[in-house]
Amino acid sequence: MFITLEGIDGSGKSTQSEKIAEWLESRTGRRTVRTFEPGGWQGGGAIRGFILNTPGLSAMSELLLFLADRSEHISRVILPALRQDCNVLCERWNESTLAYQAGGHELNPSHVRRIIRACSFPEPDVKILLDISPETAIERVKSRKNSPDKFEDEGIKLLRNVAAFYRLIAEEDPAGFVRVVCDGLTEDEVFTKITAGLEARLWRSR
Ligand code: TYD
Repeated sequence: MFITLEGIDGSGKSTQSEKIAEWLESRTGRRTVRTFEPGGWQGGGAIRGFILNTPGLSAMSELLLFLADRSEHISRVILPALRQDCNVLCERWNESTLAYQAGGHELNPSHVRRIIRACSFPEPDVKILLDISPETAIERVKSRKNSPDKFEDEGIKLLRNVAAFYRLIAEEDPAGFVRVVCDGLTEDEVFTKITAGLEARLWRSR
């Protein structure tokens, strides 16, 4: 299984990823490799640091750097893990690129879609969207870090645009997404909804 976890900064991806990985291992009897973007491969920290901390990069440069990072991540981590019959659970994927670079940074969405499609990256079996209000998310980000990266620094306006674009993408592909509205729910309640969604998408529909 190849599963991705999406959501704005502060939506709780890392917390849920740990719980989902454990659940997935016992549900499938297979090891689950947890990974993330940008930079989830050996040496990827350099490209992550460059993208997140270089002021003034053009939106197009950012787009191409995120895709270059993904390309390395696929060949060095994702495909080798899938070939070894592991599940892969990845925080962020193509939908982050669409939501942030088209929704947030206002590149032309159809151009971004076309460029992503041309990359022919593997398509996840299912995508999880942690849908949370930007107001709640931004409070969490502020409380957990001393120095937000430049995307987090752009604040509420960016997050609102990104969150809206995520919703649009999930609505376009309801069969491909488990979307959980997280506001007002505890971590455990969110997790229960995620696993119910995964059961329905991955097993009950087969
Ligand atoms: P991440 O470390 O996942 O942030 P967080 O853990 O706070 O959610 O991602 C870093 C930033 O990179 C995040 O603000 C979103 C951005 N990003 C894009 O803009 N496009 C992309 O394709 C990816 C993978 C990430």
